[in-house]
Amino acid sequence: MSEPTPAEPTNPERVLVIIPTYDELENLPLILGRIRAAVPQVDVLVADDSSPDGTGDLADALAAEDPQLYVLHRAGKEGLGAAYLAGFAWGLERGYDVLVEMDADGSHSPEQLPSLLAALADADLVLGSRWVPGGSVVNWPTSRKILSRGGNLWTRISLGIPLHDATGGYRVFRRQTLLGLGLADVASAGYCFQVDLAWRAIKAGFRVVEVPITFVEREHGVSKMSQRIVVEALLLTTLWGIRHRAGQLRRLASRAPAVAR
Ligand code: GDD
Ligand code: MN
Repeated sequence: MSEPTPAEPTNPERVLVIIPTYDELENLPLILGRIRAAVPQVDVLVADDSSPDGTGDLADALAAEDPQLYVLHRAGKEGLGAAYLAGFAWGLERGYDVLVEMDADGSHSPEQLPSLLAALADADLVLGSRWVPGGSVVNWPTSRKILSRGGNLWTRISLGIPLHDATGGYRVFRRQTLLGLGLADVASAGYCFQVDLAWRAIKAGFRVVEVPITFVEREHGVSKMSQRIVVEALLLTTLWGIRHRAGQLRRLASRAPAVAR
């Protein structure tokens, strides 16, 4: 009897990890080294907003040595969301199948990326989640934990979505998911960009799955989270929630039978 012919290898998916940077000089070589060791097959795009500390120049120097590393230089600091939108456009234009969001500061472990990528088999969007069983946060002050949990609680109440970590920034998107989110009219620039995209994905009917991650607070440099960013997130989430409920009420009212007055 002849040996069965081995199955044709299917084309491996092309994965692009997008890393937004603003003043991450110390962190950049560390995160890139960890990515290369943990997931050598992926390409990486650094989206730098002209960091004053020279992160963009360092990225160029590293890219000159690494054919899987690309750099997108942006004119100035426009926020995390704007950097990701530019990075998504770059990756979609170049035909990547899977696009990943990852912070530069080591909080999102590249070592956990294989488990996020594996979850994409049954999902259109995978969220790395700190607040599901198995997820955790290391070295955050209580105040920041309360902010994150409170923000997520408010998001669940306001938008009525079943997610535990809609504000997190470690994510894996299928190309088709990004194409279906209407990215052209995403205006949220700060961190509520993350809520915006998760919310859009759910409304569009995509399968959104949360996978536990261990988020480790950065050791080098400082967070760019500011009071302005928190207020923007709070106001926008509330506004979206009110619009959503108003829409639900209008639909209910238009369906209700004309009752005796
Ligand atoms: N290009 C660019 N432009 N990058 C930025 C900007 C910006 O304006 N602001 C922040 N970044 C980059 C940082 O350099 C880092 O790589 C990443 O975005 C996350 O920024 P951090 O400042 O480290 O964020 P964090 O640790 O406070 O916030 C984390 O938690 C948030 C809330 O859960 C992140 O994971 C966020 O994505 C998440 O929303
Ligand atoms: Mn961080």
